[in-house]
Amino acid sequence: MSLSNRALGVSPSLTLAITAKAKKMKADGLDVISFGAGEPDFDTPAYIIEAAKVALDKGITRYTPASGTVELRKAICDKLARENGVTYDVNEIVVSNGAKHSLSNAIRALVQEGDEVIIPAPYWLTYPELVKLSDGTPVIAELLPENGFKLTPEQLRGLITPKTKAIIINNPSNPTGVVYSKEEIMALAKELENHKHVYVLSDEIYEKLVYGVETMSIAACSEEMKKRTIIINGMSKAYAMTGWRIGYTASSLEIAKAMSSIQSHSTSNPNSIAQYASVVALSDKKGDEFLANMNEIFCKRRNLMVELMEKVGLPIIKPEGAFYVMVNVKSLFGKSYDGQEIKTAMDVATIMFDKLYTAVIPCESFGANDYVRLSYATGDKQIREGLARFEKFVKGCK
Ligand SMILES: Cc1ncc(COP(=O)(O)O)c(C=O)c1O
Repeated sequence: MSLSNRALGVSPSLTLAITAKAKKMKADGLDVISFGAGEPDFDTPAYIIEAAKVALDKGITRYTPASGTVELRKAICDKLARENGVTYDVNEIVVSNGAKHSLSNAIRALVQEGDEVIIPAPYWLTYPELVKLSDGTPVIAELLPENGFKLTPEQLRGLITPKTKAIIINNPSNPTGVVYSKEEIMALAKELENHKHVYVLSDEIYEKLVYGVETMSIAACSEEMKKRTIIINGMSKAYAMTGWRIGYTASSLEIAKAMSSIQSHSTSNPNSIAQYASVVALSDKKGDEFLANMNEIFCKRRNLMVELMEKVGLPIIKPEGAFYVMVNVKSLFGKSYDGQEIKTAMDVATIMFDKLYTAVIPCESFGANDYVRLSYATGDKQIREGLARFEKFVKGCK
């Protein structure tokens, strides 16, 4: 069998693999604590479930337009105007099978061989893979602790070449939890305004999960930025709807048309029932209540993680958004635990999994070799127990 170079060049998602392994061991009755989750541990709110039932009863079970129903695209336009201060026409919205699919469409529509895409690191592991699948070249911008793990306009300027097609900005960030302030976003926008050939893929999937800070969409900075930005967002994280697979883009009409054509020949429309329920999710005030409650809980857990990590004794990047904490494990390299040598973050994750039944995500594939990522989309009890095991592990490293 000979696979295509494209298929051979792509790596499988390590996060999904580790999370699946942890789930299986748990199901087998083992006492596994998983810090792997990439999804809220909340149920989809009842009012959204009810809406899906209504869709079924109404027989909303047929094809919809490839880029989504007009009702949902209208609800997304209203949301973007209301919450992000950017106005779009219904035809500038494309609804897809999750934000990952939206990103895939956007990159497919823009990037080809010879194009460079700037990706700040640590990054979400899917970004470089999608760029490579389009035969583009990922250009990694290493984010520095002294800049709070944020891209600065100067750093950005130094990376832009005539070949730069786009930059991916993920705000709030997975995996760092870093959130750019309004001023920082505006400073990046000001720099990008000077480079008219560069597009922005603005992944805003965690926009609702911020703790005591405010941010903004880069598309809202100016008309010029709006023209060149593709907002990527979706229902997964904000409404605990990861399994429903609804994501969307907002962009110029030209880009939206290209993405819509690509989608019409690959997946066609996203699930009709999930689309119907998403209109209700976005429009009903009950969504605000759900979000406020989820945010409060995540914020408390964030504080608990930060507090308990002090005891573990390893440096962290303090998160202001999303639901992840990155832990620097470099000081453990060269040591051993229970006779097993630690050379990499992958070794840390493997040993913690095998010896302490604790799943953390090694960050080599997030462009951060010295780190592991812990998700706090899990209960307080698990956080306390899991971090006690982490402390035991660190103390046992000689
Ligand atoms: C940064 C980021 N973007 C996009 C996605 C994709 O979300 P969806 O489940 O809607 O495809 C994720 C999911 O983990 C993510 O972390």
